[in-house]
Amino acid sequence: MTSEPRASTPEMRLKRLHERLGGIAYGGDYNPEQWPREVWEEDVRLMKEAGVNLVTLAVFSWSRLETADGIYDFGWLDQIMGLLHENGVGVDLATPDAVPPAWLVAQHPDILPVLADGTTFGFGSRQHFDVSHPAYRAKSLAMAEKMGERYAGHPALCMWHVNNEYGPVSYGPHADRAFREWLQQKYSSLDDLNTAWSTDVWGQVYSDWAQVNAPAQPRTWSNPTRRLDYHRFTSDSMLAHYKAERDILRRHTPDLPIVTNFMRFYKNNDYWAWAAEEDAAALDIYPDPREEDAHVAAALNFDLMRSLRKGQPWLVMEQATAAVSQWSVNVSKLPGKMRLGSYQAIAQGADSILFFQWRQAKGGTERFHSGMVNHAGPNTRVFREVCELGRELKELGGITGTRSAAKVAVVFDWDCWWALELGNSPRSDLNYTQEVLRLYRPFFDANIPVDFVNTASDLSQYSLVVLPASYLLSDDAVQRFENYVAGGGRLVASYLSGIVDPDNTIRLGGYPGALRNVLGAWSEEMHPLAGEGEEVKISTADGGTASANYWTEHLHTEKADVLASYASGRLAGSPAVTRNTFGKGTAVYLSARVDGTFLEDLLAAERAAAGIRPELDAPLGVQVRRRTGNGRSYLLVLNHNDAPARVDVKAGGADRLTGNAVRGTVELAAHGVLVIEEPTESNPAETAR
Ligand code: GAL
Repeated sequence: MTSEPRASTPEMRLKRLHERLGGIAYGGDYNPEQWPREVWEEDVRLMKEAGVNLVTLAVFSWSRLETADGIYDFGWLDQIMGLLHENGVGVDLATPDAVPPAWLVAQHPDILPVLADGTTFGFGSRQHFDVSHPAYRAKSLAMAEKMGERYAGHPALCMWHVNNEYGPVSYGPHADRAFREWLQQKYSSLDDLNTAWSTDVWGQVYSDWAQVNAPAQPRTWSNPTRRLDYHRFTSDSMLAHYKAERDILRRHTPDLPIVTNFMRFYKNNDYWAWAAEEDAAALDIYPDPREEDAHVAAALNFDLMRSLRKGQPWLVMEQATAAVSQWSVNVSKLPGKMRLGSYQAIAQGADSILFFQWRQAKGGTERFHSGMVNHAGPNTRVFREVCELGRELKELGGITGTRSAAKVAVVFDWDCWWALELGNSPRSDLNYTQEVLRLYRPFFDANIPVDFVNTASDLSQYSLVVLPASYLLSDDAVQRFENYVAGGGRLVASYLSGIVDPDNTIRLGGYPGALRNVLGAWSEEMHPLAGEGEEVKISTADGGTASANYWTEHLHTEKADVLASYASGRLAGSPAVTRNTFGKGTAVYLSARVDGTFLEDLLAAERAAAGIRPELDAPLGVQVRRRTGNGRSYLLVLNHNDAPARVDVKAGGADRLTGNAVRGTVELAAHGVLVIEEPTESNPAETAR
């Protein structure tokens, strides 16, 4: 049964999903095919106890749904979907093409991806496909068609989950062909390609399209623009496959959300391009409990997810209740940390809390990855915490659909990421996400909400824009940044910004070529600092001292003022940090990796000058975020510290987790959370409880 097509937008589809689920989505991946029928009965009973309203089915089930070529068996899926529906649990149904079955691989061994060094992956894990393989694509789409046909209109079906964590790259013959086709679309002639790729360097000129192929392992360093284009191609080709599946599912179920799941700091796919094709951004997030600051990197990823679709609520598609099984030592989360991480995601705009997975597997690769129900069964700390969180989230339905606003934008751009880390540059250990994190963290610590943007985004709503190592900038992007500053915006750019154009060709005439005009400063030479821990001193214009490590540059000012200069080393006496007035705005340039305190002070001064204030003044490690909309306002206060913290919540409101009124200074337990519903014009009574 196919539902009637009617106009529907991603926002509408998502809104309907949450209305159907009665609020926040709660649940996780469920793999009933791994368990006998009697366990299914226990599963649905425990799901009800835990407040689960959504489970993701069939992610890895292709070999059970199509047991041989064209022989489909949906019987077991029909049964479990029926059982889930009878018990009030909705289904996020996955297309299972992350795992082409053994029979398909036996029929077409060249489905298996080929590494750059020519090694072919063997069967026996997952994501073992070359997305450009015609049979893989055809069989995946046939499966999507079958599933769409069969389950459209099924009362349990709430949303679709396409594939799983798209990402594997192949350098095999199918990828060669598809790459060539992609290049022929991009370049109007082979001459254009030769120019863009600078093939006159090292005599790589192509004289026939047939000579062009994927950048397999070269004898030594290989052409950086060819590799940059390969990154672009692999992201685009996987996205094309996603879109083909999505379009099939959309035809059958026009009103249901369709997503695939993204990964934390995932380099292979340009999630800006991907998110534009999804109904919501959906993230798999596995912070390592061994890392004291794991919540900061998580925060960056959460803000990125919220930003990818311009503030629209996003989904935590997977997280762990306790331990994972992917690191050398898999430490379990401390009691309360799973809850804290879940509220952190909600504070930063998530409307769903889902786990991998419902029941911990007893066999297979991930048998030690925790579940909502672990090996020991439901009489455990973890299941009690799962039930407690489920109970709490039921009361928070009003938060779905609310949004948060930011005045600071940080640029996060996949072209910059790819180009910066191609090697054969002034240093081989450049790490884009660490550069972004370094400039993001001071805002996080100060409770200043941040949106991410890419180099093509509209900047008009922001008072401060930060470019961390934004290495590749198009002329359009440069124009946009100049217009933004000229119109009164404040810009802060760090070293390694604006170095190359979209062909990965250096912008000549002094670094950072693209930004020289707006920065009013230029560098004649890059001076990375060689030694581990090597530092140079910096003196600030107001008489203070600071230090820099890792990166310095021989900088000259044209029009900019000098905020700090190098005070030791070979650049002693030259400017290190500058600020330029450009039109009605200003642009700061950091030519060095300055120490944390200097950076915090500088960014604090910039944001203060832009009139940007924290949500609340809170101690370090206490995160504060506000979500508003639908006539409601929520202030979420999260204590990431291992000790209690005191916070002045000012006028406060009703803590939705306890029902108590909170106002003024409150003590928050270690890892404690407040979800304060603040009084609004349409909800004035909320503090009175
Ligand atoms: C994700 C993946 C899941 C599961 C999980 C835990 O990356 O999508 O299927 O493997 O990690 O490791």
